[in-house]
Amino acid sequence: MLNPFDIIIFGGGGDLSLRKLLPAWYRAYQEGNLPAGSRIMPTVRELADRAEFIEKVDNALQAHLSTGEYNKKDWAVFAEFIHPIAINVTEIDENWTLLKERLEAEASDRSRVFYLSLPPAVYGRCCELLSQMELITETSRVVVEKPIGYCGASAEEINSQVALYFKEEQIFRIDHYLGKETVQNLMALRFSNVLFENLWDAKTIDNIQISISETVGLETRAGFYDKAGALRDMVQNHLLQLLCLVAMESPHKLNANSIRAEKLKVLEALRPIVGKEVKENIVRGQYVPGTMNGKVVPGYLEELGDNSTTETFVAIRAHIDNWRWAGVPFYLRTGKRLKKRCAEIVVEYKSVSHNVYEQNVGPIQPNRLVIQIQPEESIQLTLMSKRLDSLEMQLEPVTLNIELAEDYNNNYQGDAYKRLMLDAAANNPALFIHRDEVRQAWKWIDPIVEQWQKSGVPALYRAGSWGPIDADELLAERNHTWYNAGDN
Ligand code: BG6
Repeated sequence: MLNPFDIIIFGGGGDLSLRKLLPAWYRAYQEGNLPAGSRIMPTVRELADRAEFIEKVDNALQAHLSTGEYNKKDWAVFAEFIHPIAINVTEIDENWTLLKERLEAEASDRSRVFYLSLPPAVYGRCCELLSQMELITETSRVVVEKPIGYCGASAEEINSQVALYFKEEQIFRIDHYLGKETVQNLMALRFSNVLFENLWDAKTIDNIQISISETVGLETRAGFYDKAGALRDMVQNHLLQLLCLVAMESPHKLNANSIRAEKLKVLEALRPIVGKEVKENIVRGQYVPGTMNGKVVPGYLEELGDNSTTETFVAIRAHIDNWRWAGVPFYLRTGKRLKKRCAEIVVEYKSVSHNVYEQNVGPIQPNRLVIQIQPEESIQLTLMSKRLDSLEMQLEPVTLNIELAEDYNNNYQGDAYKRLMLDAAANNPALFIHRDEVRQAWKWIDPIVEQWQKSGVPALYRAGSWGPIDADELLAERNHTWYNAGDN
């Protein structure tokens, strides 16, 4: 069990805090993982009175926790952990002194986690004020949210500003996908089973697809999203991180340095996509009105109320130029307002080298491994098998299906933020991102954005579909097809 700690959530009254961070701490409390005496301090711009803020948190928990998780008894105890405070994150005022007094009322070696749930443009300033107020101790850490910058140069600037006040080992760059249970299971699957690791390279694998499809549209984030687009919002971080975990070599130990070093090698080996290769290997799309679950939904431009060429969908054919992956296409895809919400890694194996069966036994389909991250957490392996109901030799594909959550009788509540914030409190950076990874990821993304700025407009797709037809053609060029959850 951890020692008691303090977590200061800057931007504590914002959407992320109310929707994800505070519910995650409530879960941590319910599971017995929030040490007594710890303090959660959400900072807000103005605080008329504590009771009002606490009521807001109460409402948020009721809205965002799953059925059965929330109860008044647990809430009453959990509420005592919450100590809101009004802070101006860009100017020092008397409230900073109040924060200092509060923090210093505890032993000086108590861990302090400063969680910056703020626009990245003010990360540097906020860290500067923390430093001016002498609040950064040896046992302090800062958690920064994505997106770190809009391009390589702005990311460098932000990282450099934060680095003026915190050492690299105190900086925890969060990518909540790394906290998802099945994403960590990916490492367990790869590095604790001889079966897969020996069949994990260009000799046996034909192609790999990594897809994160969402059904939501713009939600309430027009200002941010229209500037970012799907490439910066999802590919630069979540998809590239998943790609790293799928493609990396085994780290010699499961510690932060070894894991990050292996992920970095993958990012360095990613073949750049530049100039006219962008059009050949990448499809960008934007949704137009369509039907989802029988309901007509507006298109991106209608939701935005403006004209825009921002992409809400990206599909990429990427290659990793190293011995293990030479020639294997990695297809990355993400989009909003797609047919289903799903995050999945699909490994398609090669066909058998020689078919010993006569044609009439049915086609031999290549094996396929599907690792579903959400909505369900499952692993499916498709194999060829003999039909039992026929005297003749007839083959058919059968699927080994492991529903990972099934054994826990709903007693388990996967929560990526809970997992990662507890890791930050425990000073375990293994699932956080190193500055070098951020730099290398942008190095790959920047030329794509540059090319898009020069030419082209997004291909249109109907809300509720699987994206633009061009994305299907991208795979068809190599005789591949997308594995679309539930449709195949
Ligand atoms: C965030 C993106 O990082 O991830 C959002 O900014 C996206 O646009 C979200 O909706 C998806 O996360 P999840 O966990 O719901 O798949």
